[in-house]
Amino acid sequence: MSTPDTFYITTPIYYVNDVPHIGHAYTTVAADVLARYWRLRGREVFFLTGLDEHGQKVQQAAAKAGIDPQAHCDRLAPQFTNLWQRLNISNDAFIRTTDAPHQSVVQRYLQQLYDKQLIYKADYTGWYCTFDERFWTEKDVLDGLCPDCKRPIERLSEHNYFFKMGQYQDRLIEHIRQHEDFIRPASRRNEVLGFLQTQKLGDLSISRPKSRLSWGIELPFDNDYVTYVWFDALVNYVSALEYKPGLDRFWPADVHLVGKDILTTHAVYWSTMLMALERPLPLSIFAHGWWTVDGEKMSKSRGNVVDPNAMVDQFGTDAFRYFLLREVPFGQDGDFSHSALVTSINSALANGIGNLLSRTLTMIERSCAGVIPEPGPAVLPELEQRIEELAKQLPGRVEAGFNALLFRDVLLMIEELNTCCDEYIDKSAPWKLAKQPDAQPQLHRVLNTSARALRLLAILLYPFMPTAAAQMIRQLGLTLDLSKPLAAGAEDWDAPLAGSRIQKGASLFPRIESKPQGAKPVSETPASPQPTAAAPTAAPAAPQSSAPVTTPAAAPAPAQPAQISIDDFMKIQLKAAKVLAADRVPKSEKLLKLQVSLGSEQRQIVAGIGKKYEPEALIGKTIVIVANLKPAKLMGIESQGMVLAAGDSEVRGLATFVEDVEPGTKVK
Ligand code: MSP
Repeated sequence: MSTPDTFYITTPIYYVNDVPHIGHAYTTVAADVLARYWRLRGREVFFLTGLDEHGQKVQQAAAKAGIDPQAHCDRLAPQFTNLWQRLNISNDAFIRTTDAPHQSVVQRYLQQLYDKQLIYKADYTGWYCTFDERFWTEKDVLDGLCPDCKRPIERLSEHNYFFKMGQYQDRLIEHIRQHEDFIRPASRRNEVLGFLQTQKLGDLSISRPKSRLSWGIELPFDNDYVTYVWFDALVNYVSALEYKPGLDRFWPADVHLVGKDILTTHAVYWSTMLMALERPLPLSIFAHGWWTVDGEKMSKSRGNVVDPNAMVDQFGTDAFRYFLLREVPFGQDGDFSHSALVTSINSALANGIGNLLSRTLTMIERSCAGVIPEPGPAVLPELEQRIEELAKQLPGRVEAGFNALLFRDVLLMIEELNTCCDEYIDKSAPWKLAKQPDAQPQLHRVLNTSARALRLLAILLYPFMPTAAAQMIRQLGLTLDLSKPLAAGAEDWDAPLAGSRIQKGASLFPRIESKPQGAKPVSETPASPQPTAAAPTAAPAAPQSSAPVTTPAAAPAPAQPAQISIDDFMKIQLKAAKVLAADRVPKSEKLLKLQVSLGSEQRQIVAGIGKKYEPEALIGKTIVIVANLKPAKLMGIESQGMVLAAGDSEVRGLATFVEDVEPGTKVK
C-alpha cells in the first residue's frame, strides 16, 4: 500500500515506432523533477518509465524497416534509454512490454477477468482506424474520417473478446466526484466527467485476431488472438512492481503523468480494469498539454519534430529541462521555439541564477579571501527582511507547488528570490563597500546574505537542474549530496554557512548569443518578392544589474540591417519539392503555376520564373520551396509557398540539388 512515505510516479510507456521527440522528453523530465523532489524530501520513490512494444504501429514500423518486430524494438530501445541518460533521468525501472514477466502478468489478469466472466466473445462491426488502432461508432465518424487523426477509416467486422467496461460507469463517475485530485487539471476532470455523465460507456474490445495483427501477447484462453495493445500497455504500471519482491507497497501510484490525448485510456480503461481486478485506483492522473513548434502542430511530414538530443547538444541538459517546465503552465499547451528557449536561458539562467552566483563568489574571492564571511550589521533592513521572509516561506510554498504539479509556479517563486537578491546587491553596492575600510562588516552582511540565498536556491533548483545545482553547492564550498534526502535543517535560513571556502568555477550558464550557429548561409535569392527579415525575436534580456561584476559574456553587438538571427532563419521552413505539373498562368509572361509534391502532401505554387523556363522543362525536377509562407493569390491563383531561385530582377536559375533528394526533405 502506498503511504505518505513512498511516492510512485510513472510516465506513459512510449511506442517504439519512432525515435523520441520533445513530447516524450517533456513528460519524462516532469516525472524526473517530481521524483528528485520527493527523494530530497525523504520519500521513498519508485519512478517508472519504459516502452510500449506491441501493437499495429510497432508492427508496421518494423515491416517498413524490413526486420522482425522484436529486432526493431531492440534496435530502437537504446534511442530512449540513451536520451534518458543524457537528460539525467533518474528512473528506478525501465519496463518493456515484451519482457517475459510483464507478458505473464497480462495473461494472468486476462485469465482472472475471463474466469470471472468479465470478458466475453462477441461479433463486432464498426468503423476502424488503422492508425489509432481503434473502432469508432457511427456517430463519431464524419465524412469517412477518423474523428481523432482525421485519416480514412474502414468498415470492419470481426469476432472479438470484450471486457465488460460499461458496467463500471456509475462507480467511476462516483469515484471521480469523490476524489478531487483523481484527474488533474480540473478542466480535464470536468471533461471526463462530462463525457461519462452524458454518454453510455460501452464494453472494450480487448483482443485482435492474429489474422490481422500478430504482434502482441497471446490471449491465454484463445490462441487465435492477441491482446489489444492498450490493455497490455496499461498493465505495465502494476506488472513492473512484480519484477522485484517488495515493490507492491508502492501501489497505488501517486501520479500517472500522461499527455492529454491519452487521458481517456487512463481515466476510463485503466480505472475500470483496476475495478474489475479489485485493485485500488491510482491517486492521480495528470494530463499535460501538447507542444506545437513555431505555432504549428509537430509532425514528421512538416519536418518540424524537435529532437531533444539536438537541444541537449546545443543548450545543455539543465537549461533544456528548465525551459520545458518554465515555459508553459503544466497542463496547458505550449509553443516551442528556438528564440523562446534562448530568451529563457539568457534571462532566467545566464542573467539570473548564473549571474547571482558568479558576482557573489567573485566578491567573496576578492574581498574575503575566498571564505564566506560572518554576517555584519544590517545594511538594507527592509530588503534583508524581505529576502529572509521569502527564503523562510519558500520551502513550504514550493512543496505546495509540487503537490499541485505547478512546475512553472515553483520556478517563478524561486526566480522571485533570485530577483530580490539582485535588487539587494544592486542597492547595497558591495563593490563600493569593499573599497571602504570601515564598511567591511556591511560588506560581509551582503555577501553572507547572498550566499545563504544561493544555498537555498541550489537546493530548490536541484530537481529541475541537478547538475547545475550540484555545481552551485560545490562552488559555495558546501558538502551536500542533493541526490539523498535532505538532513533536517539543511535548508534553514539560519543553518551555519560562514567559514565555508568557496571554489569558484566555470560560469554555470554562459549567455547564448543570437548568432547563427553552424547554419548554412542562404545563398540563393528567391525569384518572388523576398519575405522581409523580422527584427530578432530573441532580444537579449536587459542585464538585471549595473554592478561591475555582471554576466561573463559581453552584450551582443547591435544587429546589422542586412543580417538576420538564427532564430529568424529557423522560422523559415525550406523543403525539397518535386514538380509534378507546370502550366503558364494565362495572360502572364512571367508566372508559372506548379503542382509540387512534398512527399506526404501536394501544393500549388505560382512562381515568377516563366521568362526563364518552359513549363515542360520543369516536370520531374526537385526544387527548393519555402513551405511555411502564408498562402497568397497571384493573378487570382492561390500560391501555397515560394520557390527559391538565383538572380535579382531576372531569374538566373532555380535552386535544385546535386544528389537525388526525397520530396518533403527539410532544407537547412
Ligand atoms: N504507448 C502509448 C502510451 C501507453 S501508456 C500505458 C502512447 N505512446 S506515444 O509514444 O505515442 O506517446 C507518448 C506520450 O507522448 C503521450 O503522453 C503523448 O501525449 C505525448 N506526446 C506526443 N506528442 C506530443 C507533443 N507534441 N507534445 C507533448 N506531448 C506529446 O501514446
